Amino acid sequence: MSNIIYFDNAATSWPKPKETLEAMERYFCDIGASPGRSGHRLAIEAGREVLATREALAEIFGTGDPLRIVFAKNATEALNIAIFGLLKPGDHAITSSMEHNSVMRPLRAMENRGLELSVIPCSLNGELSPDDVVAAIKANTRAIILTHASNVTGAIMPIAEIGKIARDHEVLFCVDAAQTAGVLPIQVKEMFIDLLAFTGHKALCGPQGTGGLYIREGLENIIRPIQRGGTGSKSEFEAQPDFIPDKYESGTPNTIGLYGLGAGVRSVLDRGVEHIRNKEIGLAQHFINGIKAMPEVVHYRCGDISKQIAVVSFNIKGMSPSDLTLILDETYGIMCRSGLHCAPSAHRTIQTFPTGTVRFSFGYYNTVDEVNFSLEAISKIISSK
Ligand code: ALA
Repeated sequence: MSNIIYFDNAATSWPKPKETLEAMERYFCDIGASPGRSGHRLAIEAGREVLATREALAEIFGTGDPLRIVFAKNATEALNIAIFGLLKPGDHAITSSMEHNSVMRPLRAMENRGLELSVIPCSLNGELSPDDVVAAIKANTRAIILTHASNVTGAIMPIAEIGKIARDHEVLFCVDAAQTAGVLPIQVKEMFIDLLAFTGHKALCGPQGTGGLYIREGLENIIRPIQRGGTGSKSEFEAQPDFIPDKYESGTPNTIGLYGLGAGVRSVLDRGVEHIRNKEIGLAQHFINGIKAMPEVVHYRCGDISKQIAVVSFNIKGMSPSDLTLILDETYGIMCRSGLHCAPSAHRTIQTFPTGTVRFSFGYYNTVDEVNFSLEAISKIISSK
């Protein structure tokens, strides 16, 4: 895979740390068994490793009890558990105009069933005003559901501030950390986060098919599971277990994926979230400095670099985003994503709907040389227009 520059880390991170691959290989070659079911040594070993993955996630998110981490196949499934499990017709929910469809579509589906929904408009930079959130809270407001950072512009939301507002108003706070888990510090207790949906295959360095939901103590009593089935526990009963995580984890888990996720999270903990953030945002800043000097490039900016993750959306004037990504791929070997990024509301907010933008999303393994090469490529594409 030489001559490839991978700038699509917001879609999925690549490459993964070697530890992720080694852990998955170890499971596949030496373990192979299903955790939490049979009592033989391989099943027990698999169960231990799945618990170790929960423990690593509990450490990185500051959840305390690792059993409050419920595994799901991705952030989308975790958000579906939170939204469909918690909200009822007649409830009111608040979200922002910068959300991904993984938040918007479940909320819109609930709206069709009688949920009242307020979508707070963000600024052209994708910024959310906490005062607007306060103003939207009503007597029947049940939850605020918010992305931690936009997958389109990279804009970071004021999560801790909104969390405090939610707690003060006795409203539940659910955060979509798909773009931030592993690259921004997240401490659920300090940030007053009641529900945290995360994916395993982006900055947490696990494989696809992994993710989960942190559920604050006590909420398992009110959040309904969205599926039911075998859990390996309370098998004498035909009713779903009512304790966490089994209430939400039916069926054989993605054990090989959870081996990889555990190793990925431990590699993030070893490197340090701050170190990873500094490296990635340094690359983003270097790229932004480069495109700033190109009058033909429109950058959909977040303002202050400290208020964004390493996701940069831009366009070349007079060129469609899909044409540009095709040239970047075919001529320069640069992999990136164009279009609406499954976030049409965010593109409406930054006024790039319906064609969207070209998005570069930098990861830990990218280099300054790759950024320089991409800036030269963009410059050549502009010159040859
Ligand atoms: N939500 C992912 C992205 O932004 C898939 O590309």
